[in-house]
Amino acid sequence: MSQRIDKPALIRYLRDQFCLDWQGIHGIRYWSRVRYNGLLMARENDASVHVVELFAFFHDARRFNDHRDPEHGIRGAELAWQLKDRLFEATDHEMALLTEACHEHSNGLIEADITVQTCFDADRLDLARVGIMPNPFYLCTDQAKSTSMLMPAIERSIRLKVY
Ligand SMILES: [Fe+2]
Repeated sequence: MSQRIDKPALIRYLRDQFCLDWQGIHGIRYWSRVRYNGLLMARENDASVHVVELFAFFHDARRFNDHRDPEHGIRGAELAWQLKDRLFEATDHEMALLTEACHEHSNGLIEADITVQTCFDADRLDLARVGIMPNPFYLCTDQAKSTSMLMPAIERSIRLKVY
């Protein structure tokens, strides 16, 4: 996978600053499933694998609680900007996509660039872990809405799989 992220160092950094339960519903295990979902879809829809991976790491990294925290996506993107060129590299275009995906991922948006849509869906496909069945009406991409993606993703989230 991407060699443009110093993953051991990035994960260590994110863990050290994470305010919540690292193994909890918004922690590293969940991020691993978001990444897995995103990479599966990116194989088919040409979304940026690099942005999808970065999104998995950053979108909830700056959550302050496990409930309502409307600014957390903005904080996640800010952290990504701080760590760019230290723990990962990204082009301006990749950063623009990552920023939009982080900012908007919990706002219910559906229309966006395919990479941003894939990030949204990677996140939404894991909602069953908190007892919410992903509704295809609120998914963006054909990949996420397909039964072959949706049903296994629900299964992974219910079983709290780690990748
Ligand atoms: Fe989030």
